[in-house]
Amino acid sequence: MSETVTIELDGEALTVPVGTPVAAAILAAGRTPYRHHAKGGSPRAPYCLMGVCFDCLVTVDDVPDCRGCLVEVAEGMRVTRQVIGAGDGHG
Ligand code: FES
Repeated sequence: MSETVTIELDGEALTVPVGTPVAAAILAAGRTPYRHHAKGGSPRAPYCLMGVCFDCLVTVDDVPDCRGCLVEVAEGMRVTRQVIGAGDGHG
């Protein structure tokens, strides 16, 4: 049995295995759209999963525009998808 941590994703508790990238946790939770593009609002999702495309941007502990594929989950981490209507100022 693997160790897990509990993060807060869009205000809801989510338990995920230790070492999981935030982007993978969001995808595994089935949250869509992953985010909306800041200009034009098109839906976006992680593409490269290695820090190159910047399509996986999320807000982590109130820091916007973190690449979710490069950040591992941590106990108590607060993650917010940057989706239209989320109220975080990102579109
Ligand atoms: S998925 Fe491409 S930078 Fe994260």
